[in-house]
Order: sequence, then structure tokens, then C-alpha cells
Amino acid sequence: MKTLDRVLSKMGLGSRTEARSWIGEGRVRVNGKVVRTPDAWVNLERDKVSFDGKPLQAAQPVYVLLYKPKGYVTTYKDPDGRPTVYDLLTGLAAFVGTVGRLDLDTSGLLLLTNDHALADRMTSPEYHVEKEYLLKASLLLTEEQLDEMRQSSAGVKKVERVRDSEKYSHVRVVLTEGKNRQVRKMVEDVGAIVLKLVRVRIGPLVIGDLPIGKYRLLTVKEVQQLKVLTKLDADQQSKRKLRLHQGNRALLGRSSRRKRP
Ligand code: URA
Repeated sequence: MKTLDRVLSKMGLGSRTEARSWIGEGRVRVNGKVVRTPDAWVNLERDKVSFDGKPLQAAQPVYVLLYKPKGYVTTYKDPDGRPTVYDLLTGLAAFVGTVGRLDLDTSGLLLLTNDHALADRMTSPEYHVEKEYLLKASLLLTEEQLDEMRQSSAGVKKVERVRDSEKYSHVRVVLTEGKNRQVRKMVEDVGAIVLKLVRVRIGPLVIGDLPIGKYRLLTVKEVQQLKVLTKLDADQQSKRKLRLHQGNRALLGRSSRRKRP
């Protein structure tokens, strides 16, 4: 269960403040009825939420991998009128929310889906999904500076020098917890700035031959890999088993009741 404003912002529609004002304007419906209370509780597994008449959930789950160029914001609508990642998703029938965010000046892989359960797990620190970045720092970084970056927080899995050019270090960073602007802050904390940042991997998903600015749908195998990684397949199977078990018990209960005189 989440509050309505949080659902809209988690889906990548905009900030919670924007969501609250859209809800107040009556643009959001839950199960067909306009709801003007941002703090109303909704359960996306049960409730149907729509925004400006467009359902936030489709019957079929859709999983999209976008190679975001720099200069695009990771939100549905930008109050400053900048291009958004949704401008690149032409031809998609379902509304998909962003799974995490990339800064305006970061390029690389962005996952979008209407599968809320998977999206929640992919961004939860509990499942340790790796995100790999390549960065160009504004100067040559020493081993001590790289060590400082390694020890900066628990979610830093790897910091590795890829190569040095005459004036700049190129570094690979793998995180399992992505806080806001985390890579940039790590580099700033050791006295440099990030000149270029690309997210090259999310769990098993890599850029491959996806052209920049384009998207593709995940394959069935990739979706399955993500579900295994986030233990969603096991949990969904045990829920199914539990429902079956409860259903059987209810049937047995009914039949045994019927048998009694
Ligand atoms: N870390 C950052 O600093 N920026 C991003 O876009 C992603 C991770």
C-alpha cells in the first residue's frame, strides 16, 4: 500500500509536490472515481489508477530498456520544459514508470516498467541489484582517492581504475544502492568532479548494440533473470502455492461440511 501521491511520483510522472497538485485538480481517478486526497491509500495490485484518463497499469506487464542520452530528465513532465525520457518512448501503448533515475547529464541504461512489484525490488537495497557506471574524472585520481571512494558507503561494491589519460582518470564504479547523485558525490568528496558518467549495466542488462536514444523491450529470458535476481519468481510461486493450498482447504472444508448430516 502506498499513498496516491507517492504512487504517481514512483511511476516517474513527476515530483510528489506535482502529484499532489494534479490530484487536487481532479486529474487522477482510482477505480474510476476522481480522488482529490493525495494521502489516500492505494494498492496497485488491486486498485486501478488513471491519470488524465490513461491507466497506469496495463493488462500485460511491459519492460523497456532505454539508452538515455545526456540532456534528458528522468521524469514524465518537466516544469522547466526540458526534454524528458518519455519523449524517446514513442510507439509504446502502455504507460511505464522509471525504475530509479539518471541525472540530466548522465547517459546510459534506464529500465521502465508497469510491473510495480519488480520495480520496487529492483530499487530496494535489500536485493543488491548491481548498477555499473563508467566515469571520467576531472583529474588523475590517486590510489588513495580511489580507496576513499571504495569506503564511502556500504552500497559501493567496486571502484576500479579503467585507464588514465594524460590528465583524466577513467573509473568503473559498481553500486548496489543508488542514492541521489551518488557517483557524482563520491567523486566530489575526493576533490574532483565527474566530466562524463554512463550507466553501462543494470544487473544482467547491458547496452550491447542498443543505439543511444533508442529503446527495446526486454526478452522473456531477461525478465526471468530479473525476477530470479530479486527473488520475485520464488515469492510469486509460493504465493500461488499458498492460494492453491487455501483454495483446496476451502473446497475440502465445503465438501466435508456437505458430507456431515
Ligand atoms: N549516480 C549519479 O551521480 N548520477 C546518476 O545519474 C546515477 C548515479
